[in-house]
Amino acid sequence: MSERPAIEFPSDFLWGVSTSSYQIEGAAREDGRGPSIWDTRCLMKDRVANGDTGDVACDHYHRYAGDIGLMKELGVGAYRFSVAWPRVLPAGKGAVNEAGLAFYDRLVDGVLEAGIEPWLCLYHWDLPQALDDLGGWTARDSAGWFADYTALVARRLGDRVKRWATFNEFGVFTMFGYAIDWAAPGITDRTAHLQAIHHVNLAHGDAVAVLRATVKDASIGAVHNVQPVVPESDTAENRRAAALLDEHWNLAFPDPQLRGHYPPLTAEAIAPHVRAGDMARICQPIDWFGLNHYGPIFARADPKMTWGYAWGSAPPEMPSTDIGWSIHPDAFRDTLVTVSHRYGLPVFVTENGCGGNDAPGPDGTVDDTGRIAFLDTYIRSMREAMDLGADVRGYFVWSLLDNFEWGSGYGNRFGIVYVDFATQRRIPKTSARWFEAVARTGRVSGEVRRLSG
Ligand code: FCB
Repeated sequence: MSERPAIEFPSDFLWGVSTSSYQIEGAAREDGRGPSIWDTRCLMKDRVANGDTGDVACDHYHRYAGDIGLMKELGVGAYRFSVAWPRVLPAGKGAVNEAGLAFYDRLVDGVLEAGIEPWLCLYHWDLPQALDDLGGWTARDSAGWFADYTALVARRLGDRVKRWATFNEFGVFTMFGYAIDWAAPGITDRTAHLQAIHHVNLAHGDAVAVLRATVKDASIGAVHNVQPVVPESDTAENRRAAALLDEHWNLAFPDPQLRGHYPPLTAEAIAPHVRAGDMARICQPIDWFGLNHYGPIFARADPKMTWGYAWGSAPPEMPSTDIGWSIHPDAFRDTLVTVSHRYGLPVFVTENGCGGNDAPGPDGTVDDTGRIAFLDTYIRSMREAMDLGADVRGYFVWSLLDNFEWGSGYGNRFGIVYVDFATQRRIPKTSARWFEAVARTGRVSGEVRRLSG
């Protein structure tokens, strides 16, 4: 044990948990859901660890009521989830799947009954496969497809859901899906990547306009993953690689959406895809900035890669989580300050958390003191950022449940609740109890258990 001073948050500070549709729902072929690009990717060789798929995941589609019960026990004020586009529009457009919409009705009603505010994200990476067959985000029509999907969901749930996010981590799914083959659809092509960036920006802007027109009192945001990009070593090549990676990852979405222009390197390359009027369509007023943050990333020049940048390694002395992600709470503090000043919006931390290889001990409990130490340190850095003037209004842990962690399959566990995937049994980890105390009191106590226990 070690002692640190207790810290307090404002009484209206929002504490929540985050999940996403493909990572938890399962029921991939049930009640009329259409295939998504992640269903397709899971069938491809060597794309997902152990050949894992989201077919069953946490079976949340059937167990949502119990999962809402868990959240109620945690005392959280908000639940951020996403709607699976192919569950409500199996072919992405056209015929509506009533059973899919009915699921989100039940979910939202249950969350509200539990006294928890629903935060709905429209896109957490599960694009309908039928739309990918038409070019996916490389097609300019994708903005219209997304606007129509947004209108459908907004008309159905907008009477009860007031917090809306358009996309989750624009920079991540466009880079990994269209430039580096780490996510669906796994294309590696400069033009495709630039088209995806621009069309997703258009889709965001059009969706904001639809939400404003459809949802009374909507509070609209977008979720960006912002992580400082550091050259792996200080060479001119690595610095150039880092500058471009930084634009594609951190700036190519919030800058046009909130400042009306692309960052310089991107602006030049993307110009052939930009038409008159596009920038005004993209730059719509929104109400909050959703920030996902895990740690800094390291860039290295590699001429074999699509853009000449590759993921580099962290310095060996930098601490990391059990799954190898860098731990650098000061980078979180600095990012919060920078984002708050650069975009001038209230910031909600919509994801932060720690991946591990948790397993129940002999007594059946899951004692994840490493995760508690991580959350404690990061939440303290958030408080520091607020003291430095960052306008931070809430914090959502990623994630409520262990779940399908994309290319890592079920191997990386981010939940504060353990899931035994063989039985679907849920076991709140020690961190769930720790977070409950934070959520209920708005206070992080001074008692910190060390990583090693
Ligand atoms: C983020 C994703 C989320 C989850 C966490 C660990 O990049 O938004 O779905 O995979 O990382």
